[in-house]
Amino acid sequence: MSVFADKCKDIAFNVVDVNKERIAAWNNNDLSKLPIFEPGLDKIIQRCRGINLTFSSDVHKAISEADIIFISVNTPTKTKGIGAGKASNLKWVESCARQISEYAKGHTIVVEKSTLPVRTGQVIKGILESSKISSNSTKPTPTFDVLSNPEFLAEGTAINDLLFPDRVLIGGDNKQALDVLGEIYKNWVPKEKIIYTNLWSSELAKLTANAFLAQRISSINSISALCEVTGADVREVSRAIGKDSRIGSKFLASGPGFGGSCFKKDILNLVYLANYFGLPEVGRFWEGVVELNSWNQSRLTKLILENLFGNLTDKKIGILGFAFKANTNDTRESPAIVICKNLLNEGAILRINDPKVDRNQIANDLETPPDQQNQKNDNLDYSYQKKSWQKMDLNRNFFEGIDAVVVLTEWESYSKIDWIEAAKSMRSPGWVFDTRSIVDTRKVSEAGLNLWRVGDGVLNEQRKRI
Ligand code: UGA
Repeated sequence: MSVFADKCKDIAFNVVDVNKERIAAWNNNDLSKLPIFEPGLDKIIQRCRGINLTFSSDVHKAISEADIIFISVNTPTKTKGIGAGKASNLKWVESCARQISEYAKGHTIVVEKSTLPVRTGQVIKGILESSKISSNSTKPTPTFDVLSNPEFLAEGTAINDLLFPDRVLIGGDNKQALDVLGEIYKNWVPKEKIIYTNLWSSELAKLTANAFLAQRISSINSISALCEVTGADVREVSRAIGKDSRIGSKFLASGPGFGGSCFKKDILNLVYLANYFGLPEVGRFWEGVVELNSWNQSRLTKLILENLFGNLTDKKIGILGFAFKANTNDTRESPAIVICKNLLNEGAILRINDPKVDRNQIANDLETPPDQQNQKNDNLDYSYQKKSWQKMDLNRNFFEGIDAVVVLTEWESYSKIDWIEAAKSMRSPGWVFDTRSIVDTRKVSEAGLNLWRVGDGVLNEQRKRI
């Protein structure tokens, strides 16, 4: 909405949320305290806030004044009940629709911005329609159009992705409403990039886009494991297949597995839909993408264990990166969570660095709230009782006495580490496990450190020869 406000000066954008603390943070004068770190967002907010962009918790007022409402609430995977572990929990979407139906005035276009299971538009329509039935005759009955307008922004590049989108997708069945939303985008998006579809195609296209992207990552990660045992190099394989214009070169970087709030959730949602509609083969096909991703994370832990003589008890390991990818402070579904937990369970002592993720977030993700860390609690796991992780800056102390460094996020600063200096403080034989192909391999070997790199069968062959 900040980008919308920046590009459409004659439209007022009111962002509302029931969470007052969050709204206060969006209104904070100190722009470094905004609730989300997204490169460039602070400058846009500075330009628009208080002019045609406001943040408030007066939800009902905003609904009654709006011509268009974007529903942008979260739709996490259900944790219990029918469809638990796969289906989306739509309670917040439903709650929004109910409030809109109660407080909207005149005609309102309701836009699904959240990623939703196919046919959720029907649920929203049903709830909005109910206001017609229940409204008393003294006030004019509000009317609605429902559109689907999924977003394809990736964290860290969200602003650029919105400014220069590959396409904008708008689904719905009323041409007039489609045009109203299309006109807003035309303020900065060339009209040939705006695609109009029916509501269901738009909803399904969003899930499918994420499923295809995640599938590419699982595909290349599966090949990566094969490279390691055959003497091939996954970077070379990616380059070779990426030159085929039908395949394309993007999203072929092998790594620790995909994280983030969307890929796993959206695929599981697709699996649920397929099973629900009696297509178990389709469900199994997509479930395989998620399974390979989990397997990839556990295989990395095993590799570290094997190379460190099959024992991690009391070994000190440096973790570089906790966010699910670079340029974000988001840790949702980050491979680092599973890998760190596995290493802790093996008895390792972790020093964790991340330029953007704070210590409390890591503590939550590793299920060690800071206030529990100093207490002896028999119910806590062995490794947690030993307070065996700490967040550290990337200075000389970080490397002091450590047996290995594991690179889990591709922060640029990690490509510039002076390994010769680092190796001086590490315990010998020191290891670097690079799951992101980001470290300077020449410097690592000059420093006399052992290197394991994802999908690098050439290195493995060399080691065997030694
Ligand atoms: C993803 C999609 O890319 C967006 O188009 C979509 O709008 C968004 O989900 C969403 O539905 O909200 P995002 O989760 O921000 O965006 O992150 P990506 O850049 O897609 O990366 C996802 C994961 O895949 C990360 O863990 C990343 O490290 C990993 N990845 C990505 C690889 O391992 N290899 C690659 O080549 C690319």
